Amino acid sequence: MIGRRQLIRDGLYGTGLLLASKSLGSYWFRSASASEAAIEVLLDEPIGSISPNIYGHFVENLSGVVYDGIWVGEGSSVPNIDGIRKELVEEMKKIKAPVVRFPGGCFADSYDWRDGIGPRKQRPRRTNFWGEGETKEAPASHRYDPNEFGTNEFCHFCKLIGTQPYLAANLRSLPAEEFYRWVEYCNSPAGSTTLADERSAAGFAEPFDVRFWGVGNEAWGCGGNFTAEEYAAEFRRYTTWVPRFGHPLSFIGSGPNVDDWQWTRGFFEEILKKGRGQLRSVYGWALHHYAWNLSRGKTDNWFLGKRDALAFDTVDWYELLREGDRMQSLIDGHWQVMGEFDKEHFVKLVVDEWGPWYKPGSELTPGDQLEQLPTMRDAVFSGMTLDIFNRNAEKIAMANCAQLINCLNSLYLAHGDKFCVTPVGHVFGMYADHQDGQSLRAIFSSPSVQYDRDGKPATFWGLSGSASLHDKQIVLTVVNPHVTAPRETLISIRGAKIASVKATVMADADIHAHNTFENKDAVKPRGASAEASGGTLTFSFPAASVTKLNLTLE
Ligand code: AHR
Repeated sequence: MIGRRQLIRDGLYGTGLLLASKSLGSYWFRSASASEAAIEVLLDEPIGSISPNIYGHFVENLSGVVYDGIWVGEGSSVPNIDGIRKELVEEMKKIKAPVVRFPGGCFADSYDWRDGIGPRKQRPRRTNFWGEGETKEAPASHRYDPNEFGTNEFCHFCKLIGTQPYLAANLRSLPAEEFYRWVEYCNSPAGSTTLADERSAAGFAEPFDVRFWGVGNEAWGCGGNFTAEEYAAEFRRYTTWVPRFGHPLSFIGSGPNVDDWQWTRGFFEEILKKGRGQLRSVYGWALHHYAWNLSRGKTDNWFLGKRDALAFDTVDWYELLREGDRMQSLIDGHWQVMGEFDKEHFVKLVVDEWGPWYKPGSELTPGDQLEQLPTMRDAVFSGMTLDIFNRNAEKIAMANCAQLINCLNSLYLAHGDKFCVTPVGHVFGMYADHQDGQSLRAIFSSPSVQYDRDGKPATFWGLSGSASLHDKQIVLTVVNPHVTAPRETLISIRGAKIASVKATVMADADIHAHNTFENKDAVKPRGASAEASGGTLTFSFPAASVTKLNLTLE
């Protein structure tokens, strides 16, 4: 236990909440002093509705993601539904996956959607954007795209799960006509166009009704090396006329890399040169942020700054979280720049690539490019990130974790008939309860984490999370980043009393804990005992943990 003085010194300064707490009066301070930390959920301070699409996914045709991860083929001995891995479909239904982005990533801007339709055996083989990074031993499907998994298969996959497709169009190497023809192929009613007939011939008479369309990907880099102004002009051209077929289309612009404020400013400045009405064609502005530089300020080199997914120490743990925690300032910064041009904030942010990115070496399937083994560190990272999105529910229309399977921050790993859910997948399962809830402001106060960063003292916040309201239920998710210290915390709801609680915790004494094909359940959420008393709740958040509390109000 710590005293009130230390709570105020470490906790309030540590979480930057001193100003906010001043208005809370003596009740809050009395309560907080009983435990070492406090969380107060403010019922009367709604932030916005949490779009289920914040819990979205990303599938790129990259190494083992599609071929092996998702597509095993109809003749496979791996249990499948029309060639799609059955276990994956079942797991994605459990987490209420709302939206999946495909086919890239950088792959998207060299992909011709026409290669991936029509009879599968007649589809062409093409060089994969990522092919040159593959080893000689890699399956041919990783180097040369067999196009067996195209628009039909992807949309069918989405339908099996009950999720929405989000297609990323090729802006770098296909003309604008191919963009609206792809929309026509997906969305024109049965019997209406030649492309609708082609879709019907493949067994899909009814339109796929794809609403979300990315207009290029990383247009500042692999997507064409444009300047922001050049890209804005292309965006206008590609979106000027696209057939709707009676359904809304939501275009997502290729937004900034991390803190490239100039990219955001340049795009909006240019697009508005043709009038404010242009904003109506931008549904979302896509931000990408990967946490990769764990060098503690020693280098900015993309290769040298990365560290191992599995072999890490305490400092690496905190550094990764610190890198990921930048997400809040990125949201704030780009939102502010967007507001200079779009005062009503018609355009929302879409964080369509996020997650940690480590150096190669931890792949469960040797040779799978960009595959890494998610541990408890990545579970805490993912919980923290989803909490940031929830707390910014009024700004974030969608987010897509990079990537779904066999790549980067995977929810699942698979190879042949082997499959496992990673700790990241379990976090998505826990957090699904937030979907469609009303995000509520919550005040977190806790002693901050102190650690040694190359001989210098460093700090990180002590407890963080998010809260959402669903009728008389509050879903509260909390991460404790401290690698060794649990946090006893007093939880209260301003304006209501807690009647009962159900607690679900994911934690492990070993911060490196992870799941493998042989040991699938090493890390998973477990129920924990918790009881409300007198309208509040005291709960001890284990070290290095992700927790969900389902609170029922009186
Ligand atoms: O997710 C891997 C790659 O990272 C994507 O293809 C690209 O958009 C980003 O740079």
